[in-house]
Amino acid sequence: MNKPYRIVMLGKQGAGKGTQCSKLAATLGIAHISTGDMLRSAAREGTEFGKLAQGYMERGDLVPDEVILGAVRDRLYRSDCREDGFVLDGFPRTLAQAEALEEILTPEGVKLVINLDVSTEVVLRRLSSRRVCTGCGRTYSIDFPPAVDWTCDDCGGTVVQRADDTPEAISRRLAIYEELTAPLIAWYEAKGRFVTVSGEGDFDAISDEILATVTRF
Ligand code: AP5
Repeated sequence: MNKPYRIVMLGKQGAGKGTQCSKLAATLGIAHISTGDMLRSAAREGTEFGKLAQGYMERGDLVPDEVILGAVRDRLYRSDCREDGFVLDGFPRTLAQAEALEEILTPEGVKLVINLDVSTEVVLRRLSSRRVCTGCGRTYSIDFPPAVDWTCDDCGGTVVQRADDTPEAISRRLAIYEELTAPLIAWYEAKGRFVTVSGEGDFDAISDEILATVTRF
């Protein structure tokens, strides 16, 4: 695949989308667009968009399509996305969002959809042990903590558990994934340019496989 890359990363909560998209985007020199990060940073800044989203996120519900779509459309129309491309992380999550994405990207469309596949048992373990930096959003876990006392290695921010990584919110998020997001797998598969990559095992081996997949297309 050549620039502009237009990649969608699908996967259930805790599959490693954020971790892998961040590395892939840095390797390819493209934008990493995480709708979860966009919403969390708007909530931290106290913008109207962030205030609207916060309650939904903390409960583990999806933010309404009309709230998220405008923000994604504005971001994808920026010159870095049009010239170099992007990897979308956490979007689309519903059929309505996938159809809106097709329309935003007309006539070119998405070039590749990667489905990062991880069992529910593994994601439950990962989500309950995940910790994130309140400053820059970098992800850690109980097994891979920052070097010094839950202080971010990159920005010095405090590293904490995410508000939606409680057992109640996790189970709600996974139920919503099964109902609204999992059907996108068959939808994209039918369109072609769809690849499933296992998200279990060594982090670098998974990154290598994702990069090899992108290179093949
Ligand atoms: P979002 O932030 O996107 O959360 P999510 O979909 O629940 O996904 P996660 O961030 O939980 O998982 P991930 O796959 O990115 O895993 P990660 O790399 O962190 O969305 C949050 C909320 O925002 C939503 O619930 C919703 O309210 C709202 N929202 C967002 N987008 C929306 C949209 N389009 N429409 C409506 N609402 C929307 O990894 C997880 C952990 O595993 C980490 O600790 C990591 O270190 C570890 N890990 C990763 N890879 C490995 C590995 N190979 N081995 C061991 N550990 C690993």
